[in-house]
Amino acid sequence: MDRKYFLKAMVLVPFLNVVAKNDQEELTNATIEPCKTGRDAEGPFYKPDAPLRNVIETEGDPLYIKGKVLKGDDCKTPVSKAIIDIWHCNKHGEYDMKGFNSRGQIKTDASGNYNFATILPPPYGSRTRHIHFKIRAAGFKELTTQLYFEGDPNINNDFARNAEVNRVISLNKKNGINNGAFIIYL
Ligand SMILES: [Fe+2]
Repeated sequence: MDRKYFLKAMVLVPFLNVVAKNDQEELTNATIEPCKTGRDAEGPFYKPDAPLRNVIETEGDPLYIKGKVLKGDDCKTPVSKAIIDIWHCNKHGEYDMKGFNSRGQIKTDASGNYNFATILPPPYGSRTRHIHFKIRAAGFKELTTQLYFEGDPNINNDFARNAEVNRVISLNKKNGINNGAFIIYL
C-alpha cells in the first residue's frame, strides 16, 4: 500500500465507523420508539361524513380488525371518543364516490378500544392492499394514514415501502375470517 492510499484509508476507517454507528443508532431509535403511527397519503377517494357503523362492508373476503388508540407520548394512555374514519375499495378494486359503500366511522370506547368488520380490500392498479384511516380526537392533531398487510406481493411497490412496522399487520385466518390488530398512536 502506498503512503498516500494508507493515509486516505486511515482517515476513511473512523469515518466508516461513525456512519455504521449512526446507522445503528437510527435502527435502535426506530426499535425503541414504536409508539408512533406514521402519516400517509390521503389519496383522491376520501369522502367526509361516512355513516357511524362498525360493519363497513360485507361483499368480499371477510376481515375483522380490532385495536386501540393510545397516546404516543407515553405509549399507554387510552384515547377515548376518538373518531376513526375508514375507507377502502370494494372487492372489484373500486371506490364508491356516489354513496358510502366501503366507508364508515367508528368511535373508541373509554379504554381506547375499537373494532370493525369489513373485507380485505384487493390490490388495485399499482397499489398494494390497503385501508385508509383518518383519526380525530380532542387535543390531538388529525392523523391521516394507511394500513397494509404482511405478505402482499406488491408491498414493496408503493407508499407501503415507507410504512413503519406498526402499519404492516399480519392476518390470522380463522373460520373464514381474516383477523388483525392495529394499534394507533396519536
Ligand atoms: Fe386507496
